[in-house]
Amino acid sequence: MRHLLDTKSLSHADALRILDVAENMADTQRREVKKLPTLRGKTVVNLFFEDSTRTRISFEAAAKRLSADVINFSAKGSSVSKGESLQDTAQTLQAMGADAVVIRHGASGAPRTLASSGWITAGVVNAGDGTHEHPTQALLDAFTIRKRRFGEASRGRDLAGLSVTIVGDILHSRVARSNVWLLHTLGAKVTLVAPPTLIPQDVSTWPARISYDLDAAIAEGPDALMMLRIQLERMSAAYFPTEREYSRRWGLGADRLAALPADSIVMHPGPMNRGMEISAEAADSPRSTVLEQVANGVSVRMAALYLLLAGAEDDLSGPGRT
Ligand code: CP
Repeated sequence: MRHLLDTKSLSHADALRILDVAENMADTQRREVKKLPTLRGKTVVNLFFEDSTRTRISFEAAAKRLSADVINFSAKGSSVSKGESLQDTAQTLQAMGADAVVIRHGASGAPRTLASSGWITAGVVNAGDGTHEHPTQALLDAFTIRKRRFGEASRGRDLAGLSVTIVGDILHSRVARSNVWLLHTLGAKVTLVAPPTLIPQDVSTWPARISYDLDAAIAEGPDALMMLRIQLERMSAAYFPTEREYSRRWGLGADRLAALPADSIVMHPGPMNRGMEISAEAADSPRSTVLEQVANGVSVRMAALYLLLAGAEDDLSGPGRT
């Protein structure tokens, strides 16, 4: 693996390989000493042009657990405010010895530009670009669904026969896009539920069904219900009903939670807006996987960095198998 830019171009075999190596990484994270020597001498740069809590810290934890050196760059407080370009910022970090660059950027396509420009030689990982994709979020979501459904028998399995309903601001969600493609590749059936104004125009080309009725989608008994944040910062008021109206029609509260099958899980990539798309009761319920998703994110990102930086030289069954 040279770069990880999206899930749309991941093959079934590639996706399963990342999930299975992540299983091995998760095994190592249950040990008393969590740190592995695998990436000693490598440098991972976190290049963040947009805010993040989970993704940035998770990549930092993943790189450190693999013994890589980590450089954290945040556009806030940097020379980006003086007009420095993406090329110059990236080449400056490359000159400090970056082996992998994990980039979050507000512009869709920025990670691909970085990977294909020839500006840097480091591997590039997309940590979320505009409204385009967030591949490691989708991988950790698939990992979480698989783990909850198959437990210790997860390795080597895809998600064929499972159904996942994604609810919320599909229009602006890179998480939804990455999930739709990855879940489809892994054999799951995907339903998207949103107000008509928050569905992308090109959605007919996506491998997913569309519904505007959350109660009808819940009545179908999805294996996983994934709630998404409304990205008010990316939209004008014309796109959006009132918060009260949104919550009434598309929010997950106690009644809808009770209408789900007993073994359905409730997911959210975070950050959550409690009281709008998800109630506190649903977010904190035993069927919520919100914190499992966060924990699994470290294992999945360890797998991505491992395959990017050590995979070509090392046994792909991963260090957890030794
Ligand atoms: N899920 C996610 O991308 O969260 P952050 O924006 O906090 O990284």
